[in-house]
Amino acid sequence: MSDGGAVQRMLLTNIGELVTNDPTDDRDGGPLGILRDAAVLVEDGRISWVGHAAHAAEGVAARAERDTRREADEHRATWDAEVDVVDAGGRAVMPGFVDSHTHLVFGGDRADEFAARMAGRRYEAGGIRSTVAATRAATDDELRARLAGFVAELHAQGTTTFEIKSGYGLSVEAEERLVRLAREVTDEVTFLGAHVVPADYADRPDAYVDLVIGEMLTACAPHSRWIDAFCERGAFTPEQSRRVLEAGRAVGLGVRVHGNQLGEGGGVRLAVELGAASVDHCTYLSDADVAALAASDTVATLLPGVEFSTRQLYPDARRLIDAGVAVALASDCNPGSSFTSSMPFCIAVAVRDMGMTPAEAVWASTAGGAAALQRTDVGAIRPGACADLVLLDAPSHVHLAYRPGVPLVACVWKDGAVVA
Ligand code: NIG
Ligand code: FE
Repeated sequence: MSDGGAVQRMLLTNIGELVTNDPTDDRDGGPLGILRDAAVLVEDGRISWVGHAAHAAEGVAARAERDTRREADEHRATWDAEVDVVDAGGRAVMPGFVDSHTHLVFGGDRADEFAARMAGRRYEAGGIRSTVAATRAATDDELRARLAGFVAELHAQGTTTFEIKSGYGLSVEAEERLVRLAREVTDEVTFLGAHVVPADYADRPDAYVDLVIGEMLTACAPHSRWIDAFCERGAFTPEQSRRVLEAGRAVGLGVRVHGNQLGEGGGVRLAVELGAASVDHCTYLSDADVAALAASDTVATLLPGVEFSTRQLYPDARRLIDAGVAVALASDCNPGSSFTSSMPFCIAVAVRDMGMTPAEAVWASTAGGAAALQRTDVGAIRPGACADLVLLDAPSHVHLAYRPGVPLVACVWKDGAVVA
């Protein structure tokens, strides 16, 4: 490691397969921009050079020369001492996963509901209300401790960027608390006051929408980057969802939508019409929905953990990709419909049951997640990007689906620092 004050440099080398998601040069065809026998140079938390391992010394020396304006020869002599060299042992390295959809601030769990579903009961959006009660009953510190545990769990499984939604508070104070706590651990905070109509507004849903777009939005917007609404039978109608999303957009929040999870409905078309960054679930789609997505910049985010945990049919990723839709994969980690934080699990299911190739699923869980969050600094390994890297205990990304359930994440760097 460099001396204090100097540039912090790490050279990750002897990488057998490097997934760059950067199709800009002579790399393998396909979406992953694969480079073999590669190395990555990291300086002060950012990627500064990517190339063949054999050229790494020159790459480092050239970078050092540019940064310090000292002689390249001098640097060739000293770069060993200035660079922390990490040997990947011929294994695969890929960008950290970008999980663009989670609901990680909540109290309690719903294991009983899951067990009942596995015995034949149907999933219903109304279950959200039992988590609302448990979340309201938890203290800030209890929620913080739980959140810290989830963040460690995400890092250990290779996730380096994650979005968190509110939605288990459903009052002004409770929602403000959830976005505030979420903001302590991520920049990607989504205000989801329109998750479900709370029990005290059950017979006047439009009055609840008024509250969401009024006082609740005013309290939550300063902590949030995004607004979301659950546009589904049993939650909010397209008209109610539109009011919420337009109000959020008017105060500068980006738009995301939960739609078409439990049946066909207006969620996807509303998302496309409003220019949402992403519409999430997309389990039940008409041909018109698929065509609208294909003609838009809205990412379709698929959440395999939901269909796993609710025993529904999986969304058809193949149909979307073949139509030209950008597809992301995310965990939707929440206590009701999908209590997994594992992107490798989502990849395995997407490959086995949703028609995705391993390469498509890996792209969707890294670059796809970044697109769903409209981020260009994560989800790819290219100069200038955040040094968010995963070293796999495997020779290739294919093993993520080929060896389901096996912990293949050997080391994780976030902004150049080891986090797992
Ligand atoms: O994304 N669909 C709406 N919200 C969550 C489920 C939340 C719950 O059941 O607690 C989801 O699946
Ligand atoms: Fe969700």
